[in-house]
Amino acid sequence: MAYETILVETRGKVGLITLNRPKALNALNSQVLAELLAATQAFDANPQIGAMVLTGSDKAFAAGADIKEMQSKTYVDMYLEDFFSGWETFARTRKPIIAAVAGYALGGGCELAMMCDFIIAADTARFGQPEITLGVMPGMGGSQRLTRFVGKSKAMDMCLTGRMMDAAEAERSGLVSRVVPATELVEEALKSAAKIADFSLPAVMMVKEAVDRSYETTLAEGLRFERRLFHSTFALEDQKEGMAAFSQKRTANFRNR
Ligand code: CAA
Repeated sequence: MAYETILVETRGKVGLITLNRPKALNALNSQVLAELLAATQAFDANPQIGAMVLTGSDKAFAAGADIKEMQSKTYVDMYLEDFFSGWETFARTRKPIIAAVAGYALGGGCELAMMCDFIIAADTARFGQPEITLGVMPGMGGSQRLTRFVGKSKAMDMCLTGRMMDAAEAERSGLVSRVVPATELVEEALKSAAKIADFSLPAVMMVKEAVDRSYETTLAEGLRFERRLFHSTFALEDQKEGMAAFSQKRTANFRNR
């Protein structure tokens, strides 16, 4: 598929997707969604790929859903199209995706970064949910995911005032896993993704599934789910290899990666 709003590359076992609508600060319109779904689903299906990185430009990861695309829509349009529901498919990507965020991650941009498995931020990153300033509210998960990331008080503050959080506050609040210099952002994210892609792919996917499940269930059910997945890792050749390599003081050579 020829993409117009994203750039898609592979770096070894890592799929790198770059949002590429510079004139609109990577605003997320229907075409971006369709292309992102096609690219992530292709990487999910590609046995050569073990992890992905999603990034934007130095100025903007993404400045939100495309306001110009939404502006003239009516309630009936939004309801019949079930507008934004396609992003749920993105969030169900099975291989890990690291968001590498520099510049603005606002509205849908912040929400997209939170749909990824973790966020590495450049020191220039700024996160916000400014929908309230447009007379609307978050619609791609901001009121739910941001609250789980940073807690009620900060999520309310962000969503009700529309203020932005800088990278240091985002790290302090648990929104991002770490902050790196802007010049090193993509390389750092690629390095982490390459490390993940070198582990056993089924084990990696089970980790993602188990951590994601913690958001959806009780502690008792989550622990039971984790234990069952853990038991199933003993059906993997990679478990035998990983544990043998430890005992023999050598690096593991996983088959399923
Ligand atoms: N949608 C459509 N176009 C956008 C956009 C968006 N979310 N954000 C920026 N753009 C466009 C601008 O309209 C402008 O286009 P033109 O050159 O054709 O006028 C271009 O990108 C550059 O933007 P600015 O000139 O505004 O750049 P700036 O550096 O002065 O300001 C900014 C940067 C503070 C990020 C500002 O662009 C801004 O406030 N953008 C909107 C942020 C926003 O409200 N996001 C939430 C969108 S709603 C949403 O996301 C709903 C949801 O829950 C999913």
